[in-house]
Amino acid sequence: MFKKSFALLIVLLLGIFGSVSAQDAASTLPVACPEGDATISVAAGAVGVEFDVAQEQAARYMEACPNVTVEILEMPDSSTERLGVYQQFWEAQDPGVDVYQTDVIWAGIIAPHAVDLSEYVDEEFIGQFFPNMVEGQTIDGRLVALPWFTDAAGLYYRTDLLEKYGLEVPTTWDELTEAAQTIQEGERGEGQSEFYGYVWQGNAYEGLTCDAHEWLVSETGDTFITSEGEVNVNNPEFVAALERAAGWVSGISPEAVTTYGEEESRAVWQAGNAAFMRNWPYAYGLGNAEDSVIADNFDYAPLPAGASGAGACLGGWQLAVSQYSDNVDAAVSVAAFMTSPEEQKLRALSPQGANPTIPALYDDPALAEANPLFVRMGPILETAYPRPSGVTAEDYNQASTIFFTYVHDVLTGETDAQAAVEDMELDLQDLLADRGM
Ligand code: GLC
Repeated sequence: MFKKSFALLIVLLLGIFGSVSAQDAASTLPVACPEGDATISVAAGAVGVEFDVAQEQAARYMEACPNVTVEILEMPDSSTERLGVYQQFWEAQDPGVDVYQTDVIWAGIIAPHAVDLSEYVDEEFIGQFFPNMVEGQTIDGRLVALPWFTDAAGLYYRTDLLEKYGLEVPTTWDELTEAAQTIQEGERGEGQSEFYGYVWQGNAYEGLTCDAHEWLVSETGDTFITSEGEVNVNNPEFVAALERAAGWVSGISPEAVTTYGEEESRAVWQAGNAAFMRNWPYAYGLGNAEDSVIADNFDYAPLPAGASGAGACLGGWQLAVSQYSDNVDAAVSVAAFMTSPEEQKLRALSPQGANPTIPALYDDPALAEANPLFVRMGPILETAYPRPSGVTAEDYNQASTIFFTYVHDVLTGETDAQAAVEDMELDLQDLLADRGM
């Protein structure tokens, strides 16, 4: 009897609080629930646990707006492949996807297919984001996407192994190469035959553009096309950096690193089989998860420097609303909800640990406590260097493809570094000439 009435009480309380929180959620929505029923499909990533986190966000939205069904669609991990999928939808003007998770470098590419969000979302809401991120997503005065989370890559290192071998955190690429070599030899000597010094992203895709952009920026201070439209690849510093990276393959890095994306490198790292990893902040919380063998035995530092200092690739993802959506109002309401401060905070606190795009959240003590990386991300984010997507706009993907394809050829030994940068330079110059530059 007691048990029954207790259970009833719980059900009642859940009912009351459940509906209060749904109402609360609805009243704090940045863009109100749409009129009538709607189904909104969101094309989203599944790197780490971001897919689950997006699904939780969708569930919270549906609680606030029960007339809307939000479906999260899983897209390929590779940014390059994902763009390929999106482009098929856009070419067909397909209403099957309403909201797209878009890479920070795609603003010029998505512009013709995205609605101008400044027509739907008020200025106060937009004013909460980092102004440079909003500016980066504004094409010809149209806000094409809302910043969802930001990214800057860093160097993950095993604290226990640095201590074991009496090594400091490497601050230059050469120090990294040496430390990785020392630890790899030592660990293999103790029977860890699958152990590697350094894992990173060497597959032919956007991730390799980021890695190689970092080698280039750290050696020359600029990326492969400068903001003035100069091609910056055919120089001895980049040739040397490419040769160094090619030397890592089958040395301190697995031969298969030339097929690795973020998740493949994290798999090796999180299994305890690498001393160092280049990756984005999402790997921090996951590496410290309860089931992770490296939990509490690693840390995250700025990437090593070259002659010009360090140059972390600036990454990040946004949400854009498709012009081909059958229900733009509902789609905007979902996108604004998912990028709102409350939702960004929950994402930041999740194991995915996504970096907010709202400066005020970095002052929130709950974030710093949950993930010390947020405190350390400030200077890394400030000095992170953007890829040349502003100057190449709708042609960015072609420019990046030229860049990563030649870099990949050097890594796999198909061509030598000097020949690669010469061809890369010609192809990039042709592309710029076609753009009238
Ligand atoms: C991360 C970055 C994104 C970048 C991608 C490359 O997801 O946030 O900007 O393009 O990695 O793999």
